[in-house]
Amino acid sequence: MSRWRELTGESSGEDYAARFAALARSGKDVHGEARFCAALVPAGARVLDAGCGTGRVMIRLAELGYDCVGVDLDASMLAVARKQAPELPWFRVDLAEFEPDLLGIAADFDLVVAAGNVFPLLAAGTEATVAKRLAAALRPGGLLVAGFGLDEAHLPVPPGITLSEYDDHCAAAGLTLVDRFAGWDGDPYDGGGYAVSVHRR
Ligand SMILES: C[S@@+](CC[C@H](N)C(=O)[O-])C[C@H]1O[C@@H](n2cnc3c(N)ncnc32)[C@H](O)[C@@H]1O
Repeated sequence: MSRWRELTGESSGEDYAARFAALARSGKDVHGEARFCAALVPAGARVLDAGCGTGRVMIRLAELGYDCVGVDLDASMLAVARKQAPELPWFRVDLAEFEPDLLGIAADFDLVVAAGNVFPLLAAGTEATVAKRLAAALRPGGLLVAGFGLDEAHLPVPPGITLSEYDDHCAAAGLTLVDRFAGWDGDPYDGGGYAVSVHRR
């Protein structure tokens, strides 16, 4: 069972969306992830939002002109995504079993983004498999972008994956580390409790 499911019972879609809507109303920037991705690949590029949740990141990327697909396992999160953007493609799939071909999707994404602690919220022991599945969905030269917390202060669950474990999983999946940042604003990584990693296939 995913740590996300243990944490939320997979019934928190509306609450999650309401929390971000309140942040946006209070003037907080809730589009850092989309802006970060948009700086890496040009508009029109194919983007997979892996663990898309309510579509917070993907809907923004679609507004910016990206050709997006969203995948998540939590029906309550996807229900919000579908309500907010019924015209976009959302799939209820376990990332550990994700095979684009089975869904009629080409496995040639320019960028895969896993934002919002997706890796530490996977079922324990599936991280390497998920890295492999996501790498396989990329075109050669495509980018995997993942942002997640590394300590208790930056995670809603006990820390589950270290950066070196993540890099090892990516390397085993044929990916090379390109860059690492302290957050979605692009500040250089300084060894802190949150990292945004960019790997290339
Ligand atoms: C904190 S939410 C982040 C949602 C979205 N990426 C965002 O940044 O707003 C983490 C998401 O990871 C998803 N997730 C966790 N394990 C998963 C799995 N094995 N397959 C698909 N989605 C998964 C959860 O369902 C949840 O929607």
